[in-house]
Amino acid sequence: MNRGVLRINNLDWGFNGRNIFNSVNISIPEGSFTGIIGPNGAGKTTLLKLILKLLPPDRNSIFLNNRDITGFTRKDIARKMSYVSQTPGVDFGFTVEQMVAMGRNPHLRSFSSETSEDRAIVTDALRDTQIEYLSSKDISKISGGELQRVIIARALAQKPAILALDEPTNHLDLNHQMKILSLIRELSAEKGITVIAVLHDFNHALEYCDNLILMNGGAVVASGLPEDVITPDNMDTVYHLEIVMEKNPFTGKPYMVVRS
Ligand SMILES: Nc1ncnc2c1ncn2[C@@H]1O[C@H](COP(=O)(O)OP(=O)(O)OP(=O)(O)O)[C@@H](O)[C@H]1O
Ligand SMILES: [Mg+2]
Repeated sequence: MNRGVLRINNLDWGFNGRNIFNSVNISIPEGSFTGIIGPNGAGKTTLLKLILKLLPPDRNSIFLNNRDITGFTRKDIARKMSYVSQTPGVDFGFTVEQMVAMGRNPHLRSFSSETSEDRAIVTDALRDTQIEYLSSKDISKISGGELQRVIIARALAQKPAILALDEPTNHLDLNHQMKILSLIRELSAEKGITVIAVLHDFNHALEYCDNLILMNGGAVVASGLPEDVITPDNMDTVYHLEIVMEKNPFTGKPYMVVRS
């Protein structure tokens, strides 16, 4: 494993002086599809927001390509990382295509309009997320799952080196859950995009991730290969769930079954 495109180094951080993280260390390998799992309140969203500087990290705690991110401007961050939030805010009054095209904003030069290349990137993002049929629709008039795909398309149009997604399969039907996760895995494998995705579905994590981080109470409990993280012991300790591992007959990958 290399030194990591993104490194979290002894992170201590909390809201209003109440620490959530105590000396958290994480290294995210370049080009990996890294999943983050953990119970509600574990600190997953807060961690992503610190990485994206949506919350203010302290100096010397988060490094992107060995540079302290506190030195990056908002535009620097937006050129390198895109974010699909757990609770996307929506600017009403735009069409789906306009919303996806906003992903190009960090790359436009001041006062210049989009180029044919920008338009081609937007067209690809609409196609890849299968929302071309919605292009001219008002974003206030689409379904929850369609909106989620629009937000993902906008993040893809940003052409990030790092794509951070917080529960990206929220609102999606099973077919679109698989399609979106497959698409993201493909982007990571073929284009070298580093993906960091908060997931709640362990079997999605086992199937799609090549690196997994299990968090609990603001700490990293385990990290590494998904099958080394999702183990009966860890699931018992963190979630108080009894599980057995099976093999997915379709893909041959490990698959988890929970005692109900
Ligand atoms: N704005 C805030 N102000 C104060 N505390 C907060 C704030 N946002 C989150 N917290 C607290 O920080 C902790 C971590 O929250 P976070 O949203 O990172 O959890 P999470 O792992 O993403 O959980 P979930 O699976 O429910 O999305 C929780 O205890 C939460 O109550
Ligand atoms: Mg969250």
